[in-house]
Amino acid sequence: MTGKTIETLGPGEARCPGLSTRDIVMADAAAPPGEFMADHYEFMGSDDVSYDAYLSPDYARREEERMWSKVWQMACRLEQIPSPKDFIVYDIADTSVLVVRQNDGGVKAFINSCRHRGMQLAKSEARGHAAVIRFPFHDWTWDTKGELMAIPCSWDFPHADKAAFGLDAVHVDMWGGFVFISLAEAPSPLRDYLEVIPDLDLPLPMERRHIAYHVQKVLPANWKIAAEAFLEAYHVLATHPEGLAFAGDANCQYDVYGKNVTRFLHTIGFRSPHLVGEGNEAEILQGIGGGAAGLSLRPGERARDVWADHLRGAMGQQLGVDLSAVSTTQMMDSIEYFCFPNFFFFPGLTFPMVYRFRPVAGKVDEAIFDLYFLKPTPEGQDAPAAPETVYLGPEDRFIEAPGMDARLGYIYDQDVENLRQQTRGIKSSRKPGQTLGNYQEIRIRRMRETLAGYVG
Ligand code: FES
Ligand SMILES: [Fe+2]
Repeated sequence: MTGKTIETLGPGEARCPGLSTRDIVMADAAAPPGEFMADHYEFMGSDDVSYDAYLSPDYARREEERMWSKVWQMACRLEQIPSPKDFIVYDIADTSVLVVRQNDGGVKAFINSCRHRGMQLAKSEARGHAAVIRFPFHDWTWDTKGELMAIPCSWDFPHADKAAFGLDAVHVDMWGGFVFISLAEAPSPLRDYLEVIPDLDLPLPMERRHIAYHVQKVLPANWKIAAEAFLEAYHVLATHPEGLAFAGDANCQYDVYGKNVTRFLHTIGFRSPHLVGEGNEAEILQGIGGGAAGLSLRPGERARDVWADHLRGAMGQQLGVDLSAVSTTQMMDSIEYFCFPNFFFFPGLTFPMVYRFRPVAGKVDEAIFDLYFLKPTPEGQDAPAAPETVYLGPEDRFIEAPGMDARLGYIYDQDVENLRQQTRGIKSSRKPGQTLGNYQEIRIRRMRETLAGYVG
């Protein structure tokens, strides 16, 4: 932007005036690895993006046929199926998949449909343990590798050749303790699909974390409307103004890598550029938790550095690991990676969230939102088995979910209220599409372009 005025900047070149995320991170007492300093933005045009994809049942059918059947999607975490013969059901639109832990620690996945007369082994979202895969209708039985073991009254099925009656396998691969499946016949390797993600330099790898809490809610909106609301921080000013005194918003950094992966990096411990005047560092330290921890500032210190330092000591001790070299941004900022079509995770040490958004079969304006909070697993320990999922219907509020963090529940409820009103408004709109910001909403544009590449 050097030397240019707002009038002479090219499209996509303008940024929020004031301190950028990069300025803040560069001044940190502990600098991050290169990938957290780098900028990956490209202008992708300013055309409106059609609403039709949210509303049309035909579009939803094409998504299922052409996109969900091709991509890699996060089916579960390993700690949801910790022992051999544990299984979980992952449904995507009309397709149901059975994910099964193997004796050797690996994972296989099968279409969740009996090769006799099509019954499901287990219902959507079920999780359990079974020595064999026995379908409840007539007890046809497979082993956990998917090979047919037994047909009751087999004299009646001389035409059912055991070798040809294995369960229909789907591709499985893993990264970071997440199990991914692909329904494609010959998908590209997961490692390639995840673009920059496998190469992230993380002080605490995602496989060293475990699900501490999982809530699943039916949202009153198309799965894309829901996912898009979590791709930008532009809405923080209007929707979550309580955070402005302690966190960035309009100065959030947005990065676009390949077709699948994007990121935002949103600094904590610095006031929003929307607030006029210098922040008072002592007040910021109070607001981000320093007061309760008995911290204070020496002259010239930034709240952000003092808080990160505190976290390094306190979390390091709790986890039995040395975090003294971890950068400030990885210690405390809200860093969100997205992988198309619906997988979000936060690799920083303070923000625990993982999101997944899925369509509901046959309903264009409902989505299933899985919200997981991951906790680091202390050194030398195995991840505990995942807790039971808390289920919320379309009208249930996050803040009332048993076990939910009240502060975060309040924020997610604010987001859900937007989704409901946005869906109603889009249905009434005479304007056929949404007008996106060139910078702050670039991740939405990328997601929709990638989707259009599959669906047309
Ligand atoms: S449908 Fe599976 S045992 Fe009959
Ligand atoms: Fe939000």
